[in-house]
Amino acid sequence: MSKDFKSGDLVAQQVQRIPRSGIREFFELVQGRKDIISLGVGEPDFVTPWHIREAAIYALERGRTSYTSNLGLPKLREVISQYVGESFGVRYQAKSQVLISVGVSEALDLALRAIVNPGDEIIYHEPCYVSYAPGISLAYGVPVPVPCLAENGFAVTAEAIEQAITPKSKALVLNFPTNPTGGTMTYDALKRIADLVKEHNLLVITDEIYSELTFEGDHISIASLPGMAERTIFLHGFSKAYAMTGFRIGYACGPPELIDAMMRIHQYSMLCASIISQDAAVEALENGTGPAGEMKDEFRLRRNYIVSAYNDMGLECQLPRGSFYAFPSVQSTGLSSNEFASKLVQEEGVACVPGNAFGPSGEGFLRCCFAAGLEQIKVACERTSRFVKKLKTAGG
Ligand SMILES: Cc1ncc(COP(=O)(O)O)c(C=O)c1O
Repeated sequence: MSKDFKSGDLVAQQVQRIPRSGIREFFELVQGRKDIISLGVGEPDFVTPWHIREAAIYALERGRTSYTSNLGLPKLREVISQYVGESFGVRYQAKSQVLISVGVSEALDLALRAIVNPGDEIIYHEPCYVSYAPGISLAYGVPVPVPCLAENGFAVTAEAIEQAITPKSKALVLNFPTNPTGGTMTYDALKRIADLVKEHNLLVITDEIYSELTFEGDHISIASLPGMAERTIFLHGFSKAYAMTGFRIGYACGPPELIDAMMRIHQYSMLCASIISQDAAVEALENGTGPAGEMKDEFRLRRNYIVSAYNDMGLECQLPRGSFYAFPSVQSTGLSSNEFASKLVQEEGVACVPGNAFGPSGEGFLRCCFAAGLEQIKVACERTSRFVKKLKTAGG
């Protein structure tokens, strides 16, 4: 006998509660319009370097079309272990401490599902990448956001985190450089957070996907601080630094017990990442000009241009110290993030993401990705400036 579902019963409650991504929601509105300049989606406008694409083609030519081990190709785990050791100062055993995932997206989901018991509180800084709060909820955890302020360069302070800690706190999620604000952390600020984490016996999940796109100072991983590697899951991938978003390759490094727990979820849900993409990832790390390469210099130019353009038109904008996002404030216009972004796209054909898509503390801001070409950025800025002038005139 078939069961009749009442309206509202069909979808699991924890799924009903999560919203659609504010980025996708906004982009469905603008899809198909050729006149629009998009500073929206967060991916490099560069195509994956040729030698990496060639490695993928070569994998196909050799008939490398099988599954790999659940943890990923041993060779890829070895080169990752070496790269992370040299670049981030943390040594992970390739055999037991590195897991290859389908992008950082999957690694984040695995990390949360591996550590969260129902009701555990997971602290994260906000505005933040759109997956964090839904990912925590889907793992039956309780998302606890800690706002990051523009006046602190969007860095998070140990004091703010301390206020959010309760006996139910299990872990802290960090993402520096930050999507969407471009915030980074100094060694001293990270050290204070590391001390707090140890004092309260918390775990850390650190998403360092933008680390190679650090423009000011050196990138420091919290995993490299004394006593932290044993309580940190380090997440990284190839999407941003090698313009490999479509290859879907990420990785997690951490204590063997946690990597094994993540691998057990991964083996039943995903099995393994694509072998073709894994071969390409080996090539990315072994050969070529290194991560970010010439993209980084180009992004720095674009960043400097866009930030000064926003400040000149009266939209206060901090210099993002990393990532490829500018996060100007639209508060001076009197419009909300959504109003500003919707009118800007309708009236001037420039698409940016409203800041509140990254959590309530992003309200009043706009995320503008400067991974678009400089010429396009220039036109987008001219149009935005014209739009702001119109608003001022209309407002008297
Ligand atoms: C902070 C952050 N983490 C993770 C991801 C997802 O990356 P991947 O393509 O490796 O799944 C993104 C993508 O924009 C991101 O901005």
